[in-house]
Amino acid sequence: MPAASPVTRSVIRARGYATAPGGGSNTLLWVVGAAAVAGGGYWYYSAGSAANVGKEAGTAAKSATQAIKAATNFTPSKDDYQKVYNAIADILEDNDYDDGSYGPVFVRLAWHSSGTYDKNDGTGGSNYATMRFPSEAQHGANAGLDVARAKIEEVKEKFPWISYGDLWTLGGVCAIQEMAGPKIPWRPGRIDGFAKDATPDGRLPDATKVADHLRTIFYRMGFDDHAIVALSGAHALGRCHRDRSGFDGPWTFSPTTFTNDYFELLMNDKWTWRKWDGPKQLQDKTKTLMMLPSDFALVQDKEFKKWVKVYAEDSNKFFADFSKYFSELLELGVPRAQFVSSEPWIMKTTEEQSS
Ligand code: HEM
Repeated sequence: MPAASPVTRSVIRARGYATAPGGGSNTLLWVVGAAAVAGGGYWYYSAGSAANVGKEAGTAAKSATQAIKAATNFTPSKDDYQKVYNAIADILEDNDYDDGSYGPVFVRLAWHSSGTYDKNDGTGGSNYATMRFPSEAQHGANAGLDVARAKIEEVKEKFPWISYGDLWTLGGVCAIQEMAGPKIPWRPGRIDGFAKDATPDGRLPDATKVADHLRTIFYRMGFDDHAIVALSGAHALGRCHRDRSGFDGPWTFSPTTFTNDYFELLMNDKWTWRKWDGPKQLQDKTKTLMMLPSDFALVQDKEFKKWVKVYAEDSNKFFADFSKYFSELLELGVPRAQFVSSEPWIMKTTEEQSS
């Protein structure tokens, strides 16, 4: 079946998104954002109108927690965030969706909401959840993430006090942990920003490109070669969709379990260019699995390949490094003073809670 143009579809979706989810809680968002303005101008730099809402709210918040309290008269505890985690875990599995789980697309949402960070001017990152705005939602790299945003909105409706930045990053943490991955240290404190905080297109990696491009993109976030390889291991999860990126297929045989299979397959399988009417991608000998040109770059580049080999041979090392870098990724762009605790938390898996 011919796929609809990704561009057309993302525009349709983004239009739908602009008016659909979150409508009910937008007022709260404005109040929370404005309360933050009232207390700490460095969080949010402009908008007389927002400051006015802040004045109307009559608040003087000094932290994200205080902003929530000012807007809702409620101070969430770690237990409250664990409840949000559990509610996300509850909606992960769905046999009618993809490979049976929303986990992979939640990981992608968490990553794309954070990976826009630019260390040179401090813009982007997970703080303001700017993918809520059409200007960012419509970036080609974000095609298909409307599915994740709409799904996780079910949790937002139950816990309207949580910011979108915290919700989306916690979604990634929950998905990794529930899909048998490592614990991901995480803490709340992100606040929701405004459309003017949306990032320009082109900050996320382009899968048709190779090593130089990956370095430009990830170095801008403050990461190095080691981190690029470790983070790419998330492609053990999920799949490419023709109607989202144009690419097609999963990277591994167990796309809903976090493993080091991506590296083993990259190192040990024979990869050939697929002959088809889609964008250039590689296939394994079973013609079931795929690699993007950007994935394949990790074994074509000497520096990257060193780490691919380490992770193919040592799953524990991969889990430990992934945990560290993914946790860092999710905190990009968030001023330290905004976090509710000096150290990140370890959220419990549903399995740990039931035993
Ligand atoms: C290194 C550069 C990267 C490139 C070029 C890239 C590109 C892509 C592309 C083209 C897709 C397919 C989207 C679709 O059609 O649905 C995808 C999916 C995915 N990416 Fe990446 N990605 C990169 C890095 C990462 C990182 C750092 C993470 C997380 C730490 C990540 C997590 C995922 C996940 C979990 C999926 C599957 C989503 C699903 O099943 O819906 N990717 N990526």
